[in-house]
Amino acid sequence: MLRHLIQPLDFTTEEFDDLFRLANKIIQNPENYLDVCKGKLLASLFFEPSTRTRLSFESAMLRLGGQVVGFSDAKVSSTAKGESLQDTIRTVENYADICAMRHPKEGAALLAAKAMTRMPIINAGDGGHQHPTQTLADLLTIDYYKKRFDNLTIGVCGDLKFGRTIHSLVRAMNRYEGVKFVFISPDELRMPKTFKDEIAKENYIETSDLSEAIKNGLDILYMSRVQRERFVSEEEYLRLKDFFILDKEKMNLAKEDMIVLHPLPRVNEISTEIDDDPRAVYFEQARFGMYVRMALIMFLLGLEA
Ligand code: CP
Repeated sequence: MLRHLIQPLDFTTEEFDDLFRLANKIIQNPENYLDVCKGKLLASLFFEPSTRTRLSFESAMLRLGGQVVGFSDAKVSSTAKGESLQDTIRTVENYADICAMRHPKEGAALLAAKAMTRMPIINAGDGGHQHPTQTLADLLTIDYYKKRFDNLTIGVCGDLKFGRTIHSLVRAMNRYEGVKFVFISPDELRMPKTFKDEIAKENYIETSDLSEAIKNGLDILYMSRVQRERFVSEEEYLRLKDFFILDKEKMNLAKEDMIVLHPLPRVNEISTEIDDDPRAVYFEQARFGMYVRMALIMFLLGLEA
């Protein structure tokens, strides 16, 4: 059956566990996977800027022995001549075996999936909506440092309105037992109601006080940048962009084993002075992203080592 990954709930928690098990095996013995995707082609279609997601997908395919075609700027594709997304996808399906696509429009990945007849598509971020493979990277990191997903208190801080990595993370973590969320944002960037409605009322609180939230005992602090590209008003962005800055002083309030995650890129919301704190694991998180994408490519193509 043709499978896609458009949003985290497209996979069961058991399938997530399978992916994390495979990713960990790849981390331990990458030499066993060098030829798994020999003869396979990844289409890497990025209609919006990216560093980590695009490069980790492409590295993942290359490290599995496959090859990559694609573009990193919609202006160099026939989209610039007015081609529809469906026509682009139906065309690419003739050339590649699997596709990772990022698009600025919410719902674009689902639209593309509906146009597919034989190629799996992975949503690499659709507007302010979802970013499920970032969630896979986040969960693999949580699994590594916390050894569990149940009974964790997660502070989610920053742009909760437009942050697609946050929407996907919250949706995925809400499936585990005893998970509590502390949504930390300015009033203007609060978590959209549609996502809050998916969570039991007793399992989340909302605040705009980052220090207080940290002091109350978080297991994980997930920071995010204010999403400049989603703002209509530049003035509003400038007013909100430095609302939260995680620095040494705030880290001193945290539990000794609280980990700090960030999907990156960061702008100013985490001071570089905490990069050497062992609890700051965001660059490790980016590394895990490549391994879990290797596992995902293998899973969707039905390949084994
Ligand atoms: N985390 C993430 O999506 O980063 P990029 O925008 O660099 O891909």
